[in-house]
Amino acid sequence: MAEYHVPVMLNEVLDALAVKENGIYLDGTLGGGGHSSAILSRGGKLIALDRDDDALAEARARFERNGYDGYTIVKSNFKDAGRVLDELKIDKIDGALLDLGISSHQIDEPSRGFSYRFDGALDMRMGRDESLTAYDVVNEYSESELANILYTYAEEKFSRKIASAIVTARKKAPISSTLELADIIKKATPEFYHRQGHPAKKTFQAIRIEVNGELEGLAEAANTLAERLKSGGRLAIITFHSLEDRIIKQAFKLLCTDCICDKSIPICVCGHKALAKNIGKFKPSKQELGENSRSASATLRVIEKL
Ligand SMILES: C[S@@+](CC[C@H](N)C(=O)[O-])C[C@H]1O[C@@H](n2cnc3c(N)ncnc32)[C@H](O)[C@@H]1O
Ligand SMILES: [Zn+2]
Repeated sequence: MAEYHVPVMLNEVLDALAVKENGIYLDGTLGGGGHSSAILSRGGKLIALDRDDDALAEARARFERNGYDGYTIVKSNFKDAGRVLDELKIDKIDGALLDLGISSHQIDEPSRGFSYRFDGALDMRMGRDESLTAYDVVNEYSESELANILYTYAEEKFSRKIASAIVTARKKAPISSTLELADIIKKATPEFYHRQGHPAKKTFQAIRIEVNGELEGLAEAANTLAERLKSGGRLAIITFHSLEDRIIKQAFKLLCTDCICDKSIPICVCGHKALAKNIGKFKPSKQELGENSRSASATLRVIEKL
């Protein structure tokens, strides 16, 4: 059986978190439990969240197989991490990790509808009990809303052409499968574009971001997690595309800055105080790039609570 998900930048994350025995760590994106297993094997206590039941079941089975204890798995969006910690009566934690985006399992499982390579229903929800699906976006959003999403979430240069082709096609019958959508995109885009990679790649990325509200609450989650760290605790976030990375970069910058007054003001009136210091930005090693092509777009950013 194919592996559920190979953890990206595992060594770098472990270095960043410097897991201590009995320290409390929050993994907001449990997935197949790759990073979380490494935390548990080093004696850390783990609070792990994911919005996808498949991930929760997979990781739980993995922890049981390995005989780990000291973990609590909660089905939750990581933007509610503060509430989860409150419910568990945990005030401060020693470290936190977000490994953003989708898992290999989600993309490789045709029935999840994330992939333009396999036929499946247009779904793309990370949590299958959440309401908005790719079918809704593709069949119900206006042409300009669609074009906008494709342009802002994936910088798709044929956003208008693709949006127009989708609207024309759905007038005949609703677009219900991944390959149907991929085919519409292929026909709407020029030949030369097809030689630059799969023409549906960007559209699928954009729809997925919209369906899962992937950018909403990201900065807020970073702030909450930083807030809940003990002094010296680390927050590590792995992003996979420039939009996510920009949000994390800006959120971290603000968390690591004292005064945020306008430069034209001679004395500080904002009273803003840095909560954390920047530890750095990391990319996968050459070896990892050779072994796992998925790591190519990963960027790890780390801050430390003051
Ligand atoms: C890249 S995978 C994580 C892989 C994991 N680090 C591992 O080693 O197996 C991302 C996971 O985060 C989950 N996820 C993404 N956004 C989320 C959110 N806002 N709240 C909770 N889980 C989320 C996805 O369902 C997916 O299982
Ligand atoms: Zn100021």
